[in-house]
Amino acid sequence: MVVAVDGPAGAGKSSVCRELARRLGFAYLDTGAMYRATAWAVLQSGRQEASAEELAEVLKDFPLEFDIRDGSLRILWQGKDVAEDQLRTPQVTAWASRISQQKPVRDLLVHWQRRLAAQRDVVAEGRDMTTVVFPDASIKVFLTADLTARVRRRLGDYRKMGLDPDPDKLADEIRMRDEADAGRALAPLKPAPGAWVVDTSDLTFEEVVELLSKRVGSRR
Ligand code: C5P
Repeated sequence: MVVAVDGPAGAGKSSVCRELARRLGFAYLDTGAMYRATAWAVLQSGRQEASAEELAEVLKDFPLEFDIRDGSLRILWQGKDVAEDQLRTPQVTAWASRISQQKPVRDLLVHWQRRLAAQRDVVAEGRDMTTVVFPDASIKVFLTADLTARVRRRLGDYRKMGLDPDPDKLADEIRMRDEADAGRALAPLKPAPGAWVVDTSDLTFEEVVELLSKRVGSRR
């Protein structure tokens, strides 16, 4: 079974989907982390400015692998685990948004995502789960929230990492990323036909998890 969840940055997808997966006994597939890991690895290789054609070549023998361990995504670079906090820096965030517009990157990651989901039940979260990767998912959700709520949540995330970004700059960064994700030619962020749109602006974390798990429960 696939529960597919899309939505803009800071709508609470990651924390909600991680907890939802835990309660359901499903694996949690954080596809944003896969784009971040690819951006991080491309930065490690110094190939971030490569054209789509060059990137396709680079990705052919790329020592980046994905797996599911203990119910969540495992990212391996040259056979070693990549630490999650390396993928959450502002630099990697900005490059993830850029390289996710490249077809070779999307093709590679969509392939991995379907492969991982073929092995087990998953809660898959990202920007194109409901529209492109799993259009036949049992449950399709578009999780959203107003910009103020999303900035507040992202500020909290960064502060936990010891960073203290300017709220106005963060709002601009989120807005720009949303526009890039929604306006791009390939797999743009949008609610899929038949997706259930949930606005989390005025809901607590617990309320959102409850809403979603009830919906999944009624479909099982
Ligand atoms: O969800 P997160 O903020 O970690 O995603 C980082 C970036 O990866 C997004 O801004 C988006 O450009 C890209 N992404 C994507 N498709 C997905 C998941 C993430 O293009 N399924």
